Amino acid sequence: MFDSQRPTESGWVFGYGSLVWRPAFPFLERRPGYILGWARRFWQGSTDHRGVPEAPGRVVTLIPAPQQRCWGVAYRVAADAWEQVIDTLDHRERGGFDRKRVTVEFRGCDRAAVEALVYVATERNPHYLGPAADSEIAAQIRNAHGPSGPNAEYALELAAALRSMDADDDHVFAIADLLAAAV
Ligand code: SIN
Repeated sequence: MFDSQRPTESGWVFGYGSLVWRPAFPFLERRPGYILGWARRFWQGSTDHRGVPEAPGRVVTLIPAPQQRCWGVAYRVAADAWEQVIDTLDHRERGGFDRKRVTVEFRGCDRAAVEALVYVATERNPHYLGPAADSEIAAQIRNAHGPSGPNAEYALELAAALRSMDADDDHVFAIADLLAAAV
């Protein structure tokens, strides 16, 4: 697990799901970027945010995917806010996500890569749902609601945020298109 120890000046958090469009923590800087070797999938069950235990929603997690890149947003967090931000995120991502370290790269060659903390839900957590057909995933998302709101809002906001930064993600766009078509 990524060490949450306070950085000297500032540290980076990488978001690829709700953290892309609703970080809800203080940061100094926000940069669209990508991580190599990972793909985003709606394979994690959500019983605390976008679903309930009797009807889990689906949120994204990362799976290892050699040669692929997963776009998201890197946030630079001040050292004096770091512990508070990590506590907040540990709580928010408590439904099966673990901290990991990733290298985030940016468009253009004038920006050096950074090491960042990311939250990933592996198949070892009890809420993990795993793969399903796009139509099944979209149907589950369409019908799920949780304390943070409708599951469809999560998927559509994520797709819109990725499109606004010119980021490709066939999986997310396929699910979002199925949801939009049903409205
Ligand atoms: C993230 O956004 O980086 C983690 C998964 C989520 O909260 O949607």
